[in-house]
Amino acid sequence: EKGGYATFMEKEIHDQPHAVADTLLGRTDASGRLVLDELRISEEQLEAVDRITIVACGTAAYAGMVAKYAIEHWTRIPVEVALAHEFRYCDPIVSERTLVVSISQSGETMDTLMAVKHARSLGALTISVCNTHGSTIPRESDAVLYTHAGPEIAVASTKAFLAQITACYVLGLYLAQLRGGSFADDAQSVMKELGEVPAKIETLLGRMDRVKEIARFMADTRAVLFLGRHVGYPIALEGALKLKELAYIHAEGFAAGELKHGPIALIEPGQPVFVIVPSPTAEHGLHGKVVSNIQEIRARGARTLVIAEEGDESVVPFADEVISVPATSQLLAPLLTVVPLQVFALWLSTAKGLDVDQPRNLAKSVTVE
Ligand code: F6R
Repeated sequence: EKGGYATFMEKEIHDQPHAVADTLLGRTDASGRLVLDELRISEEQLEAVDRITIVACGTAAYAGMVAKYAIEHWTRIPVEVALAHEFRYCDPIVSERTLVVSISQSGETMDTLMAVKHARSLGALTISVCNTHGSTIPRESDAVLYTHAGPEIAVASTKAFLAQITACYVLGLYLAQLRGGSFADDAQSVMKELGEVPAKIETLLGRMDRVKEIARFMADTRAVLFLGRHVGYPIALEGALKLKELAYIHAEGFAAGELKHGPIALIEPGQPVFVIVPSPTAEHGLHGKVVSNIQEIRARGARTLVIAEEGDESVVPFADEVISVPATSQLLAPLLTVVPLQVFALWLSTAKGLDVDQPRNLAKSVTVE
C-alpha cells in the first residue's frame, strides 16, 4: 500500500504530480473555460463577492497564504487569511458579500469547522476546499471544491498541500473569469500552465538525491532557518513546519525582507539557512533582493541552501548548495519550491531514526478545539 516506498510520506511526496493533475481534471470545458458546476452557489452571488476570507490551520493555512497572492492578483478582491482558531474570536468583519473559503485536508478539523459555522451564522457564503468526501466541513458549507489528492495517510501533509493550492487557484481563476476583468482572458493560459506543472514536479522529484544526502549529513543540526519572499514566504513557513513536525528541531520561516529587522541576529557561523529564490524573470522583480539577502547571511557565516530556478547562475557564488527547480511563472513556483523542503524534512527525520509517518504528539485529524 506504500507503493514500494518505506513510508507513506515518501509515497505521498511522489504522488504529487497526480494530486495536482487530478485536481485540475474536469474543471474546464472543451474551449478551455473554467466550469465549476459543483459549486452550488449562484453566479450572481459569486459576482457580488467583495471580500474573501480564507480560514484554515497549519499547512492548509499556508496553502491559503499562497492563494492570497494569486487570487488578489487575478480578481482584485481583497483576500485575508485567518487562522481558523483565531477567526471566531476576533470579531471578524463578515457580510453576505463575504466569501469564506475554508481549506482542510481531513474535513474534520474542529477549529476550521467552528470558523465555518461562525461565518455562516454571520451570513457569509462558505466554500470548503477539502480532500475527504463525506466529511463534516463540506457538509456544513454552502459549496465544496474537492481536492483530488487521494487519501493522505502520513500525519505531515504533503500532496494535500499542493492540491489545496491548485484548487484555490482554480477557484481564483473561476472568479476572475466570472467578473470579466482584465485577468479573465488570462485564466485559460494560467490553466494551461498549471497543466504543465505535474511533469515539472516529476522532473524535480528525479533530482532529489542530493537533498537526501544533505539531510543525511545534518542529523545533529539543532536549528534551521527558511527565507522566502512573495509566494516564497509561505513556502518558507511550510518548510519550517515540516521540519518541526518531523525532525523535532527548531525551524523558523521568515519573509526575507524581515531579515534586517531582526532575524539576521540569529545568523552565526555554520547556521543552515534555506533560501527560496524567485525566478530572475518574475514580474515582481524580487530576484536581486533575495540574492542580496543570500550574500548578507553568507558574509556572516551562514550555510546557504539555495532553491533557485534552473539556469540561475547568479546564486552560485553565494550558495553552499544549489537546488534547481524547473522554471514556471511566479505564482505557480510554490508548487515546485516546496518539494525539496518536504524531501529534506523526510530524510532528516529518517536520519534521526524518527517515525516519519507518525510524529510524536500529533494526530492526522484534529477533532478537538
Ligand atoms: C502539517 C499538518 C497540519 C494540518 C492541519 C490542518 O503537516 O498536517 O498542520 O495541515 O492540522 O489539517 P486539515 O487540513 O485536515 O484541516
